[in-house]
Amino acid sequence: MKIAVINGSHQGRNGNTNIMASAFLKGAQEAGAETVEVILAEKEVKYCTACKACWFKTSGQCVIRDDMAEIISLIKDADVRVLATPLYFDNISSMLKTFIDRLMVTASPYWGKDQQGECRHLTTKAAPQLVMMANCGYPERSHFQVISHWVQRHARNLNAQVIGEIYASQGALLSVREQEVGMVVANYLKALETAGREIASDRKLSSETKALLEQKFIPDEVYIREVKKYVDSTLVSAHSKNIS
Ligand SMILES: Cc1cc2nc3c(=O)[nH]c(=O)nc-3n(C[C@H](O)[C@H](O)[C@H](O)COP(=O)(O)O)c2cc1C
Repeated sequence: MKIAVINGSHQGRNGNTNIMASAFLKGAQEAGAETVEVILAEKEVKYCTACKACWFKTSGQCVIRDDMAEIISLIKDADVRVLATPLYFDNISSMLKTFIDRLMVTASPYWGKDQQGECRHLTTKAAPQLVMMANCGYPERSHFQVISHWVQRHARNLNAQVIGEIYASQGALLSVREQEVGMVVANYLKALETAGREIASDRKLSSETKALLEQKFIPDEVYIREVKKYVDSTLVSAHSKNIS
């Protein structure tokens, strides 16, 4: 069993996305999975230029010279692919989307109808199962509607299956380690480790783990008040630095 995490946070290893992905990977490794983590912020992945050379000229090779070929070889035999992203304007990050577009090289130029009668590119490659993982700054879980819909469509394009969706709102708290909030976050990270173990051993999330992962860290009103305090104090300190 091999699990590949693609981390699309522009903050790379310093991001909240990495806090989530690391806990998940820890659990997966404990369950015996081979794991690989690709931090896109540390790689050079250029835009797909839609030249279609990979389809019509170079027999499945992309002509762009960057790190994408290395990434594809790292993840190609993964049984499960975890797409981890911060929520940016209701969607996946541009870095993750750029990576997804470059997967064009893995698709056949031929189309066919899928079982529900919708066209998609045919593929001869075995599709990995997908886990979607995201966090966002706002407190409500409804902000993940687009990502949740998108990953189902993405899976359909790949002839793949989504085996888990893990979304954390109130993402600003993921890095908090102090006081009661720190305890709540620590418990959340434990639930993420369990999620990693479950995906590695059962390829699905139990209802108990799903319920734990859907809990809010703190009440929305408290979160909104604390974020405002943080913004106020950061602006005051930036202002005082500017005038001194
Ligand atoms: C460009 C940009 C757009 C964002 N858009 C949203 C958004 O639409 N809704 C939201 O709740 N948070 C939004 N956020 C906040 C991030 O999702 C949040 O800070 C997250 O924890 C960042 O994860 P990271 O530390 O891995 O980058 C946005 C942040 C950035 C930088």
